[in-house]
Amino acid sequence: MNSVSKIRLGIIGGGQLGKMLILASRNLGFYEITILDPDPDCPASKIADHHIVERWDSEKGIIELSKMSDIITYEVEHTNVDVLKSLERKGKIVRPSAGVLEIINNKLLQKRFLLENKLPTAGLIKVNPKAEDFRDLKLPVVQKTCRGGYDGRGVLIIKDKEDIEKIFPVDSFLEEKVSIKKELAILVARSTRGEIKVYPLVEMYFNEKNICDMVIAPARVPLSIHRKSEKLAIECIKKLDGVGLFAIEMFLTKDNEVLINEISPRVHNSGHYTIEASKTSQFEQHLRAISGLPLGSTELLIPAVMVNLLGEPGFEGEPVIEGLEKALSVDGLKFHFYSKPKTFPFRKMGHFTVLDKSLKGAISKALKIKKVLKIKSQEARQGWQTGESH
Ligand SMILES: Nc1ncnc2c1ncn2[C@@H]1O[C@H](COP(=O)(O)OP(=O)(O)O)[C@@H](O)[C@H]1O
Ligand SMILES: [Mg+2]
Repeated sequence: MNSVSKIRLGIIGGGQLGKMLILASRNLGFYEITILDPDPDCPASKIADHHIVERWDSEKGIIELSKMSDIITYEVEHTNVDVLKSLERKGKIVRPSAGVLEIINNKLLQKRFLLENKLPTAGLIKVNPKAEDFRDLKLPVVQKTCRGGYDGRGVLIIKDKEDIEKIFPVDSFLEEKVSIKKELAILVARSTRGEIKVYPLVEMYFNEKNICDMVIAPARVPLSIHRKSEKLAIECIKKLDGVGLFAIEMFLTKDNEVLINEISPRVHNSGHYTIEASKTSQFEQHLRAISGLPLGSTELLIPAVMVNLLGEPGFEGEPVIEGLEKALSVDGLKFHFYSKPKTFPFRKMGHFTVLDKSLKGAISKALKIKKVLKIKSQEARQGWQTGESH
């Protein structure tokens, strides 16, 4: 594309990922953005040009969005593939395509895609297991629901008889339990022209609720593991025929094997560090990839550690940022708040990234600030243990 006037972009979802995508589009300056999100106060609402207040999977909402957009993309996966497919048939552009989303939206289809393409992943043991199937099974195994899972919901590690009683009574499958040494993630982008760029491999850490807590860039693993993961990420996006920015979660096993765990066809929490630490952020890269533009350099300029700021357990209500002064006094700390009007336990409220010439330095600064920077509220919440986590 040699000349560009205005690109009307529709984004399904208006959370923090949507907000950061819009911020990147503002620098480029030639986007008009419409979001589709049921929450009138969602993070992206204040900076989008237009906001359709409807559910992410609403047929009416998606059709309205398509009328206002040259290109449709998404920052959530729980939308309506059938409606997107029918829009594609009418010539509307959806990137990544509805077909790709259909595979990824169903963890069983995703698993089969990986197995059929000989991409390394934990073995599939049984589809729709029933209690009696466990009689002949060697434990542990992992049950995953086909749909609706995120942040560890819909994943059950079955270690003993008691766990068997907890299995989810919905469409699901069992896979081998992996002995994980490290959880890793890698971003890869592919443009409409077929150009591919991969970011450095990073380490991901999760809290007790299985929500991403911290990301370390680059991953502290041997060079051979970096190269292997990059090759796998490239193969994966090519085989999917994906267009856009994808995040691929991987496991480094105790035997130093790299296995693909799951694919996200969108900008991702593991890539927030790229805003400050990379030559091109994941958000700008996604825009370039889906808009027919050349991809930017993925070079890491400086080591970085990203920490998610989750709503502090025990608090619910208008957020109060505790420890901000201390945090902002740290050399190389970049603070991001998503402006959600309400905090609740484990809600993703913001993040910070620490940049430092040495990765060790970045980690130690990040851990120090993680202890003092808290998102609370004026009033304590009763019964917070049952809190949601999105
Ligand atoms: N096969 C497995 N073996 C061991 N642990 C696993 C396996 N699959 C998932 N897990 C653990 O469960 C977490 C959530 O699983 P994942 O498939 O990534 O689901 P989600 O969609 O919730 O992110 C992973 O980050 C990992 O810690
Ligand atoms: Mg995951």
